[in-house]
Amino acid sequence: MYDQDQQRRLFNLSKDLLKTDTGAKVTVGEAKEEVNQLRETIVYHEWKYYVKNDPVISDFEYDHLYKRLEALEEQYPDLITPDSPTQRVSADLTSDFPTVKHLSPMLSLANSYNEDDLNDFDTSIRKLTSLDENAVIEYAVEPKFDGGTIVLVYENDLLVRGATRGNGDEGEEITNNAKVIRSIPLKAEFSKYGLSRVELRGEVVIRKDVFKKMNDQKAAAGETLYANPRNTATGGLRIKDPKEVAQRGLEAFVFQMSYAEDADGNNGTRQFEKHSEIIDMLGNLGFKIPQSARTVVSDVKGVLKFCNNRETNREAYPYEIDGMVVKVNSLVLQEICGATSHHPRWAIAFKFKAKQATTKLLDVEYQVGKIGSITPVAKLEPVQLAGVTVSSVSLHNEDFITSKDIRLGDTVLVERAGDVIPYIVKPMDELRDGSEIIIDFPKTCPINPDSRPYGVELIRTEGEAAWRCPDCVCGAQDLMRMIFHISKDAMNIDGFGGAYIIRFHEMGWLRNMADIYNLDYDQIAELEGFGQKSAANLKKSIDKAKSNPIRRLLHSLSIHHLGKRASVLISERIEHVLDLKEWTIEDYTNIKDIGPVVAENMIEWFANERNVEMLRQMEAYGVNMHQTQEDKPVEVAADAPLVGKTILFTGALQHFSRKEAQKLATLAGAKNISAVSSNLDILVVGEKAGSKLRKAEALGTVQIMTEDEFLALVS
Ligand code: IVH
Repeated sequence: MYDQDQQRRLFNLSKDLLKTDTGAKVTVGEAKEEVNQLRETIVYHEWKYYVKNDPVISDFEYDHLYKRLEALEEQYPDLITPDSPTQRVSADLTSDFPTVKHLSPMLSLANSYNEDDLNDFDTSIRKLTSLDENAVIEYAVEPKFDGGTIVLVYENDLLVRGATRGNGDEGEEITNNAKVIRSIPLKAEFSKYGLSRVELRGEVVIRKDVFKKMNDQKAAAGETLYANPRNTATGGLRIKDPKEVAQRGLEAFVFQMSYAEDADGNNGTRQFEKHSEIIDMLGNLGFKIPQSARTVVSDVKGVLKFCNNRETNREAYPYEIDGMVVKVNSLVLQEICGATSHHPRWAIAFKFKAKQATTKLLDVEYQVGKIGSITPVAKLEPVQLAGVTVSSVSLHNEDFITSKDIRLGDTVLVERAGDVIPYIVKPMDELRDGSEIIIDFPKTCPINPDSRPYGVELIRTEGEAAWRCPDCVCGAQDLMRMIFHISKDAMNIDGFGGAYIIRFHEMGWLRNMADIYNLDYDQIAELEGFGQKSAANLKKSIDKAKSNPIRRLLHSLSIHHLGKRASVLISERIEHVLDLKEWTIEDYTNIKDIGPVVAENMIEWFANERNVEMLRQMEAYGVNMHQTQEDKPVEVAADAPLVGKTILFTGALQHFSRKEAQKLATLAGAKNISAVSSNLDILVVGEKAGSKLRKAEALGTVQIMTEDEFLALVS
């Protein structure tokens, strides 16, 4: 419908239009032109959103354009035309399935973003209903599911029709697909409530963990991954083969009864006073409704509090939601409020901070890792994402760039979900103007190219995604290794951060890991920002690390593929770290869980005289190289009480330190893991347990116990 040129022009035009304040006053002549431009861009963005499922601007930006158009039309009503986006609720349909008319037209929702917007909403409700500011107005607040709308019709208790939202008046008939979604009852006893015909609205979604599993399987099979749960759900509804639909893990929540008729053909909603009663009824009839994620509150303060709380817990919720929906709970008041042509006046969406945004890719820089991997990093025009400014994201490796065809100068879609590091979802190739440049991955090491007379050629081992610099002469890799060496996961040197390493490296005091144990603390005390006390503290931390168990030391060396677990397994079997000089491939691969790749890397590392010399230096500076008690394997009795169980401790423990607790658990045969997931068997909660406890409760599969209960179990 739109070609690339048109799309680029409309995208740029919308960015220009967004610069105007929604309330700005203009002359009728100016308004005429702006109104035309607004209509043209809004129609385009609606097409992208509703028809193509591929929006190029945020909801916030779309709302801005829409509000501006409304404001101009309000100022100059003569400019209103019947085909203005404000005068209709429709968008084009993709007509692969037969079209059906909904029993009652489905509008959109107005959006709110903050406390002021919610207060304005409350004020407008009071105005519409002539209630003064002291009157109590109940609001039902529920998740705004980010999936695909479904409209269900039941006649004489049987599901007779399922449809998509379509343009709001008419949708596509997808009854057979609705029937394979197991959370949609085929039979529901509406007759118990005297209802013979009802129309329900709901949202088809995919659980986040189910989505992840599906994608993991696709990845393992080498297939193209699904982009996100939302597209997978909306796409899933419109698959031609219901058998295939059934395999998509779709679920449906219901959130509204939009039509009800009793046996005599009269309005059947009269028996209900509140929206929340209807949702309760639907829950009772076997429909899926949000449980603890919905509430009823008696004022707008309560609305805000609940919305903020849900936004904080957004990531822990098993389904993708992009906000909350706030609804006047009283059905009588809803009727009094009525609707505009676009949205009901009694409801509003409270949108969470956007997780996706578009921005420009300005440049690509390269970083080197501790084993020499070269990582490309995209430098972006700064953009706001879920509350933080993002200006730089990893491009991972060459394949990531080529498989997504990301080019310099592209407008890219960036996403940031919860704790997940921001990443580029895709370039918006429809916005290209030909000036974009294909990214040429460097053939020689791009880090400090001036520090050597020739370029070091990068290598890429078969089966690995990264290009690596095999012969670092500039010190950049040693620097990264030192930063890892002191980190929590490795030698865990308290109070010593990467910034100090970089500083000392620049001063020429640190060339490799051994130098860390031979620092001149008098010199450090002289440094700006230091002093005797901080220098002494640093010395104390470093001295303490010298007696670390050797499993920490091994892991801290940055040997390619040597992880924490393999370090433990190897440390259990040696007296002294340098024993490994004599180890053969078989010595390694005889250990269950250690493969030939790690074995070869270990052998190569210990065959390098520079590395061995570095270890000898460390030992001379007092770093422990002998197996310690902590390195020795823990003997677990076959009948220990927690054999085969996974366990996690959270909150402030009263009886023991976390380490001691974990040791007790290990002795009892349990495996300590670090995150709450369906793999977790037992969660032991101390005081002030937070998100881990909530997540475990939400999962419902985890055994939750107190410290005392745990002690009773293991003793
Ligand atoms: S109420 C009159 N409640 O958001 C509109 N909508 O335009 C009544 N949505 O695509 C909608 N969760 O599918 C409502 N709890 C909820 C919702 C919800 C998601 C979707 C709906 C539609 C859009 C609203």
